[in-house]
Amino acid sequence: MHQRVGPPYSQDLVRRLAEAEVVAVLTGAGVSAESGVPTFRDPDGLWQKFRPEELANVDAFLRNPTLVQGWYAHRRAVVEEVAPNPGHAALAELEALVHERGGTFLLITQNVDGLHQRAGSEHVVELHGSLMRSYCVDCERSVSRDELAAIESGEAAACAACGGLIRPDVVWFGEMLPEAALRQAEAAAVASDVFLSVGTSGVVFPAAGLPLAAGAAGAYVAEVNPVASEIARHLDETVRGRAGEVLPDLLRAVRALR
Ligand code: OAD
Repeated sequence: MHQRVGPPYSQDLVRRLAEAEVVAVLTGAGVSAESGVPTFRDPDGLWQKFRPEELANVDAFLRNPTLVQGWYAHRRAVVEEVAPNPGHAALAELEALVHERGGTFLLITQNVDGLHQRAGSEHVVELHGSLMRSYCVDCERSVSRDELAAIESGEAAACAACGGLIRPDVVWFGEMLPEAALRQAEAAAVASDVFLSVGTSGVVFPAAGLPLAAGAAGAYVAEVNPVASEIARHLDETVRGRAGEVLPDLLRAVRALR
């Protein structure tokens, strides 16, 4: 049997990352898997155990706010107990490296866990919102964590100012992405010299369209994923491996070249 020797990425990718003026990265749930945050579509993923139609759309929320608030409170608690992994750290270091040489870097994430920011990434666009923020559906006021206390006792959390229901600031099925975030992500994708797509299944649009748009505009596009994503065949390079292992190694190789 033929055994692959050497790293799972090409030297071309290393060289391009070392020279790129504009680097954009799209991440999905896979980048947080090694921190212990479940993904959505893997065999042990959230959508295997829970039904999105009961938990992740506005009708479900209005039908059963305590169930939906409780599910997000649970996910928030999971995220608060875990730490960023070496994959998150490597992306923060890549940003610093690109900035050091006067380049531009944008990390576009579909994740709502805040782990990139905790790892030190600075330019982060959250396409699907954040578990760490909540707001009132009636007066749209941002709500502090203290106002979510009712959830712990199984009651619906309501706005202290107007009594409206409180929802997480995440994008649900059927909802538009935050417009400014999407615009910024699209601009970075088409301006990028290198675009990395990390830990995403590539099935949820418009996020999954970003690597394709980057490629169409001339970027070199690579994905990091232990298995092929839905869009893998359209990309320039597919790096098979776990983000927490591949990315630190890739970064070392980029540094060594400079
Ligand atoms: P998915 O659960 O669809 O896909 C996770 C991807 O991560 C899969 O392709 C895995 O193979 C890969 N993966 C698993 N472990 C990995 C590791 N250690 N390193 C690298 N990759 C790994 O998650 P997303 O693509 O993020 O949307 O899902 C996209 C959106 O669908 C989510 O943002 C969420 C969900 O419904 C909303 O909630 C709006």
